[in-house]
Formats: sequence, structure tokens, C-alpha cells
Amino acid sequence: MKIERLDLQNFRTYSYTSLQFGPTLNVLLGQNAEGKTTILEAISMFAYGRSTRAKHEKELIQFGETQSQLRILFHRNGKQMDMAMKILEKGKQIKVNGVSKKNLSEFLGQLHIVFFTPDDLQMIKLGPDERRKFLNLNMGQFISGFVHHLRTYNQLLLQRNSLLRMRQFDPLPVWDEQLSTVGGVILSQRDQFIQELSFHATRIYKELSNQKETLSISYKTGVKGSNEISYRENLFEQLRQSAHHDVEKGFTTVGPHRDDLLFYLDGKPVSRFASQGQVRTVVLSLKFALFEYIREKTKELPIVLLDDVFSELDLSRQKHLLENLHGAQTILTTTDLENRLKANLNGKVFKIAHGIITVER
Ligand SMILES: Nc1ncnc2c1ncn2[C@@H]1O[C@H](COP(=O)(O)OP(=O)(O)O)[C@@H](O)[C@H]1O
Ligand SMILES: [Mg+2]
Repeated sequence: MKIERLDLQNFRTYSYTSLQFGPTLNVLLGQNAEGKTTILEAISMFAYGRSTRAKHEKELIQFGETQSQLRILFHRNGKQMDMAMKILEKGKQIKVNGVSKKNLSEFLGQLHIVFFTPDDLQMIKLGPDERRKFLNLNMGQFISGFVHHLRTYNQLLLQRNSLLRMRQFDPLPVWDEQLSTVGGVILSQRDQFIQELSFHATRIYKELSNQKETLSISYKTGVKGSNEISYRENLFEQLRQSAHHDVEKGFTTVGPHRDDLLFYLDGKPVSRFASQGQVRTVVLSLKFALFEYIREKTKELPIVLLDDVFSELDLSRQKHLLENLHGAQTILTTTDLENRLKANLNGKVFKIAHGIITVER
């Protein structure tokens, strides 16, 4: 998979810009707050369907403007793709190859990315929300219908919670039935995804840490089950049993909205015992595992986005990183290009200043 061109109009700092990417390494070079991450954010919008850092989508529209437009041209399995997004103050319009799409489910699944950011480290230290976000964004990229199921689940959950607060027991089984049908799908898809990811991550951690420790990643859910049917049946039963307890609490205490992802090194929780360096390697392994997962599922290399993380790695890890991407198209941001990196660099360098991009070489 290769991105050829990205056009942005009134998107954050960019009034208008058009970038033509090279097939392998692309470096976005610039001082802080000049608009480097914004480029990666724009690309990620086509893979995730949303921004990972904007709370409200209208924040993306350039100050003083009323709408923003993004367009990306890329190759996927030898096919030319053209995706476009128009962000308005209320909602957005999306198109794939010139055809308007009503919902995100029809839009996602085209562009695949692995996004490395400095915020990844928080995934280990912060609460389960961050880890569910990782699952949701990345599963949404290629598991057909996942985003739709998640949205349906969240709407049903809101409705169930408002019934709980009104102490309405009678209609609960109707909601529980719907909630467990869609919840069962989410639970089984997450279970499967984490098992596959974990398999790759363990192997990769071993390589990166020179065989010292064993990383294991596991799925933590309060719902018992092993496949869609058992998850659905158990979720229904558990929702029924927790009804009184949930009324006391005023919210639903069981279900995939409470899931978590756990990381262990030699059986010990990473969040409590690992050093900063180990945490970094765990996160790196997870992202490489995602890379392998996508490569296997789609038979293509995903686009790799590296935001400010490259310069923090030591030389051997920098080398390992680039070598293990198997020639995937990579777009990395940095404030200063280390001389040694520059010498080995076989790619395109873009200089970014005040929302203006120039090609250095
Ligand atoms: N909606 C917006 N309109 C105009 N500028 C914006 C908007 N949102 C953010 N910015 C500006 O974008 C810049 C941040 O860009 P960013 O891509 O994060 O920079 P970098 O990654 O190079 O440090 C800041 O200067 C910020 O003020
Ligand atoms: Mg940045």
C-alpha cells in the first residue's frame, strides 16, 4: 500500500497544501508547533475515520473558516484509490472513488496504518479507556462492521443506563437481549484479535530484548465466553443477574465497555513493575505486532506513521525499526535529522514551517 498524494484545505494550520509522497521513507522536518503531526493526523483520519487528538471534529477546521477538506490518493492491491472528506461544523461528508458514503462502515477498511506516537506510552500507565481506544481504532481499520457494532452497542448502553437511573426494571430484558447480541460480536472479535496480536508481540519482544524476558498480552473481560454464541449467552445472563446492582450504581457494570488489555513480562504486570525502557519496548512490540497482523490479513504492507518517536530510540533500535518494516512506506516526523540518520537516508525530506511545506530533497 502506498500513498501518492495528500491534499488539505483549511485543515488546522494548512490553508492549502498538497504533498506527493515517495514510495519508501518520507521525513517531515520542522520545529515544534509547525504542523508536522497535523499531516499524520490527516492521514489517520482515513484509516480510523476520526482524529485521535481532537475532542470535537470542528476543532480540525482552520480558525476563521467554516469547512475543511481532505483528499488522499493511494494504491491498494494494485488499485488506485481516491478518498475524500469534507468536515463541516456539524458532521462530515465522505466519498470513496467519487461515491458518497452514508456511514463510516462503508468508508473504513480501505487505508491501513500503524501509528507510533509518544502518547503510546500512556497506554500502559493510564486506565483501560486508552487500551480500549487502541483496540477500537485498530480493529475498526479492517474488521468489517466493527465500528458499526460498537456504535450500536454504545447507543443501547446509554438507553439501558437511563432506564437504570429511572429504576425501570420491566423493560430491561428487551435491552439486555439487544445489548448482548451486539456485545457478543464485539467480545468475540476482540478476543480473536488480541490472541493473534499477542502471538506476534511475544516473538517481537524477544527479538528486541535479546531473549531476556517473555511478554504476554491478554484480554481481560468480565464476560465469560470463547466464541460469539457463548459470549452472547453469558452476557445476557450476567446483565440479568446484575440488574439490581446496576440500579444501585446507576450504570451498567458488565459488558465490553469494561474490557481491558493486560501486559505482563515474565508474569508480572508491566504497568507496575516495568522500567521506562521496558515499557517502551513493550509498546514498540505491540505496534510491530499490529504491523505483522495487518500484513498477514491484508497481504499488503500498511503505511507506517512515526510521530516524534524515532529520535528517542537508540541507534540499534532505529536500525531494527527501519529494517523490520520490509520496505513499507513510512512517514516520520522529527525536529532534527540526526546526521547519521541523514547519511543513511534513502527517501524524501519535506521541510515544514508555518503551515508551508517545501521539498528539501
Ligand atoms: N483549527 C486550527 N486552525 C489553525 N491552526 C491550528 C488549528 N488547530 C491547531 N492549530 C495549530 O497547529 C499547530 C500544531 O500543529 P502540530 O501539527 O501539532 O505541530 P508539530 O507536530 O509540528 O509540533 C499549533 O501551532 C496550533 O496552534
Ligand atoms: Mg507533533
